[in-house]
Amino acid sequence: MQADASSKISLAFDVKNYESMSTTVDNKEIKYRAFEYIPYVANPIDIDQQYMNIYVPEEYFNNGTVNGYNTQTAPIFMPNTVGGYMPSQAMTPKVENGKPNSVVYALARGYVVASPATRGRTNKASDGNFIGKAPAVIVDLQAATAYLHANDSTMPGNANRIITNGTSAGGAVSLLQGAAGNSSDFQPYLQALGAATAATNVYAVSAYAPITNLDAADMAYEWSYNGVTSSNKVSMSHDDMAYSNLLKEHFPEYVNNLQLHDSVGRVLKLDKNGNGTFKNYVKEFIVAAANKAQAKGTDLSKHTYLVRDNKTGTIKDINWEAYNQFVSRSKAPGAFDSRSNDSGENNLFGTSTTDNNHFTITAALHDTTSNPEAYVQNAKVVTMMNPMNYLGSPAATNAQFYRIRYGTADSNTSVAIPLIVGTRAQNLGYKVDMATPFDVNHSGDYDLDELFNWIDNIVK
Ligand code: DHB
Repeated sequence: MQADASSKISLAFDVKNYESMSTTVDNKEIKYRAFEYIPYVANPIDIDQQYMNIYVPEEYFNNGTVNGYNTQTAPIFMPNTVGGYMPSQAMTPKVENGKPNSVVYALARGYVVASPATRGRTNKASDGNFIGKAPAVIVDLQAATAYLHANDSTMPGNANRIITNGTSAGGAVSLLQGAAGNSSDFQPYLQALGAATAATNVYAVSAYAPITNLDAADMAYEWSYNGVTSSNKVSMSHDDMAYSNLLKEHFPEYVNNLQLHDSVGRVLKLDKNGNGTFKNYVKEFIVAAANKAQAKGTDLSKHTYLVRDNKTGTIKDINWEAYNQFVSRSKAPGAFDSRSNDSGENNLFGTSTTDNNHFTITAALHDTTSNPEAYVQNAKVVTMMNPMNYLGSPAATNAQFYRIRYGTADSNTSVAIPLIVGTRAQNLGYKVDMATPFDVNHSGDYDLDELFNWIDNIVK
């Protein structure tokens, strides 16, 4: 729905506009005030997508404290529900099968919660034009963040302690919020929407299975899965295999140019065959995850790619090819920028009148459709969707803390991708907690106790 141009939307937080609610977790009642469907821009393009839900522990209206926080100091947890770069709705507190979702968890820990809805790649206006193509999702998240900063003095919670959270495409945009804070690249878009004139940076980022760094992700995917020439999701032609080889061959140069290093300063490189310290580094994360699972008593017998130390029984290596065969590919070569220009990501980089576009030169050159000219109209938009372009940039305010998870059973992107982004942040001196939980597939919010322990730790 498009907003009525004559309607006047205020961006001042209205503390009186709430409903009292409560939910019970572990026999403990959690009381909170719900401020729902709060528009975060004055001139929305789509009022059904550009709003957020805000939840505040009831105690903060009675001078109370929760978990050591008060109305001034409470962190603001900012989860999105973006999936597949599609339109997303704001979260609500839910307890399902006795399991609280992240909103309830956050409230129980005394956080204020601000969950924005966002536009996504399939949103259309009444005239049929697309209104949620890139960079709409990050513009909306930044507009919501600006609302929180602009209202910091009247709204409970501390806008200097915003922690974003998301899974998959949502994890990607969570990272992007962390990296691209206050970048002027987004200002024209924010101004057009009538966003609050305020900061857009956040304090910390949580990202599960981030499908990010999209313009490098095709190469990384083939570095991982080049040897997987058939899977139950993909059947590959000779042409696909040749394209896989080409993408894989491009990856070492990409990685080497990043000049990443590990936590003790070793340079992370790949030779032309894709072997070297970077590969060993990626393997070390998987080995560490396997050892952690083994220590917990997990049966690892089906994971025949694990290489054990004969004496101690600990896992010391993985057979890389066997590991990737075990996980298997879920996408054909051109996993993100598909040569047939029909992936979700191609759809993300459409324009108001073009549904799908290529966004890498390589895919455009190898296009298999009858319209090889379909290339992203404004290449700047591709850079604006990639946190790698903002991490370390003096023109952005980067978050100081990053928690990144990518399960070892997930093949939605290469495991290299989240590790590259996290390692870049770490190399810049930010605090990064990065892991590849063992045998975890494409999912998020599966370790909320640990997530909120991490947040408490970095906030307090
Ligand atoms: C998501 C999954 C993908 O495989 C992808 O390419 C993009 C997004 C998701 O689950 O959000």
